[in-house]
Amino acid sequence: MIRPPHALTVLLAACTTALLLPGCRPPSPSGDGLARTPPMGWNSWNHFGCDVSEQLIKETADAMAASGMREAGYEHVVIDDCWQVARDSDGTLVADPERFPSGIKALADYVHGQGLKFGIYTDAGLKTCQGRPGSYGYEAQDARTFAAWGVDYVKVDWCYADTLDAVTQYTRVREALRAAGRPIVFSICEWGQNHPWHWAPEVGNLWRTTTDIEDKWTSVLDNLDINSQYADAAGPGHWNDPDMLEVGNGGMSWDEYRAHFSLWAIMAAPLMAGNDLRRLDDSTRAVLLNREVIAVDQDSLGVQGTLIWQQGGALQVWMKPLADGSRAVALLNRSAAPAEVGVTLKRLGLLARPAAVRDLWAHADRPAVSDRVRATVPAHGVVMLRVGPAQ
Ligand code: GLA
Repeated sequence: MIRPPHALTVLLAACTTALLLPGCRPPSPSGDGLARTPPMGWNSWNHFGCDVSEQLIKETADAMAASGMREAGYEHVVIDDCWQVARDSDGTLVADPERFPSGIKALADYVHGQGLKFGIYTDAGLKTCQGRPGSYGYEAQDARTFAAWGVDYVKVDWCYADTLDAVTQYTRVREALRAAGRPIVFSICEWGQNHPWHWAPEVGNLWRTTTDIEDKWTSVLDNLDINSQYADAAGPGHWNDPDMLEVGNGGMSWDEYRAHFSLWAIMAAPLMAGNDLRRLDDSTRAVLLNREVIAVDQDSLGVQGTLIWQQGGALQVWMKPLADGSRAVALLNRSAAPAEVGVTLKRLGLLARPAAVRDLWAHADRPAVSDRVRATVPAHGVVMLRVGPAQ
């Protein structure tokens, strides 16, 4: 069956061919100036699920400030599902009074006081995924409530929405947020079900492309393989989202966590930590606070890197072009035994010889190369390099 195009699609097509048509204006949130680089921060869901409270959020904000994460670029502290219990007689969302006794506005103020930004979660359907009140029919009111509370980031889920049209509903939320008058990063979370890479760049700042990540290697690879198919849709202000980080949650080896973090950076993915920041051990810190890898993710060119070479599906080379003309390169070994992986400078699109090579996990320069870069890569691991013209 051929589905009729969405009303928004028709309007956008008409606007492209006749920019002066009444009602046509540049629709892209890229113009809102938000998320020019992939959002960074922390979200409660991966580690805490429904066990959220103002105490946890405050302690997490404190930890983000004290640990150096804030200085490294982690900015948003986001409460995911389960903060809300009802609507009051005016229809305003009500936070769980036992877990958030001071209310959400006071909590947002606290987070702002730590030099951080505050994010919250809702759902475009009738209920959230955990059965709390959703925003369907309350889009404008909830956007005004969030703006009044000082929310800087909102994640909008897609449970209890089976009968709804995703483009229509998310556009409604977009318009409501605009009308509320506060700059709010808009995170779309419909798991790639409605092909958001086609329409979400004009609606939100980031959109999930996959089902929920799990704290295991196969899940990282699944989300990598799916998210990487839509690289063309990403750019400053609008990003593919392969889901939040699992680094530090205990289910993977450190080689696997380094690979997870490196590949998210190569894909210009949002870097939302999903662990308990109040208990950051040195190994977790060394991953989340690797500024050389973060710089790849946050590079101002804003290009999502792609797979440029592979052998047998197990050995792969991923490459992200950077603003200074150099290339971020992840030599990935998906197999269970160490293996050598290499790539020519020609395939990296680098003409100047020799090329300088920086190892972003060893934090050390390697000898310059004239032909190819190569390395022995641990099982389920990466070697992450920055390769560019020698100084
Ligand atoms: C969905 C989302 C998750 C999380 C939960 C909360 O599964 O994909 O990221 O927000 O809902 O219920």
